[in-house]
Amino acid sequence: MKQQVVLVTGGTGGMGTAICQTLAKQGYLVVANYHKNGDHDAAQQWQAEQSQKGYQIALAHGDVSQLESTQKMVNTAEQLAGPIDILINNAGITRDVTFRKMSPQQWNEVIDTNLNSAFNTTSCVINGMCEREFGRIINISSINGQKGQCGQTNYSAAKAGLHGFTMALAQEVAKKGVTVNTISPGYIATAMLAHIPDNVMENIIANIPVGRLGKPQDVARTVAFLVHPDNEFITGANIPVNGGQYMSF
Ligand code: CAA
Repeated sequence: MKQQVVLVTGGTGGMGTAICQTLAKQGYLVVANYHKNGDHDAAQQWQAEQSQKGYQIALAHGDVSQLESTQKMVNTAEQLAGPIDILINNAGITRDVTFRKMSPQQWNEVIDTNLNSAFNTTSCVINGMCEREFGRIINISSINGQKGQCGQTNYSAAKAGLHGFTMALAQEVAKKGVTVNTISPGYIATAMLAHIPDNVMENIIANIPVGRLGKPQDVARTVAFLVHPDNEFITGANIPVNGGQYMSF
């Protein structure tokens, strides 16, 4: 079988790196999208580090919050690796602040990067997937899209919206061999947690039944499971990876 091509948005970040490494190790041809405010040197350094560790990962620069930049980025990825078989919508940011203090910019940046990005990336690859009658799309949402989180009206709205997108698109493309699923990580030990005040963090960990933060690999393993070609009957699902912090029916 042809080596399948994966595009991971935000691929050089904490969770993105683990996803890229796990899929590269399993034999996929992986392209990591990065933005890094145009710091190409930092991205190339990341790529060299991955190579030293034995992971050959291609790079594609672009801002997934902008449609035109995303289209150029997907073109680059396809020139480097071929048509995208698997899309991991992983890029995301936080601008945490209570709603009454939230600026329109803080609202829009999070909605554009965390939700509108799914339109931008998916619109570039969905027709090809349907024509080839195979595709896997994973939207990385969050526990805070499921339960809400004080200080995150923007982020919770975007992440809840992502799963609505998953469920609707999953129905539209199910007969074309394309599955669309959401993963909702809990609190995963990455740089994204750095700004959380210490007392808030202690309280969060105390409420995780497993008793620890998640590891990026906990999420990456779930991605690998869902994108496997044999995994063709799970679609429109929202898989929690949260150490038991939030359980729903
Ligand atoms: N529930 C209810 N009220 C809360 C609260 C909570 N958990 N935390 C704070 N508040 C209330 C305070 O009691 C206070 O109320 P009063 O003004 O009536 O006294 C008010 O909120 C404080 O508001 P401030 O605007 O002064 O805000 P702050 O400077 O204290 O910061 C915060 C508040 C932005 C919420 C800050 O506590 C924070 O960053 N919390 C962490 C948010 C969080 O969990 N983010 C997740 C980041 S990781 C991620 O997003 C990845 C993922 O997917 C899980």
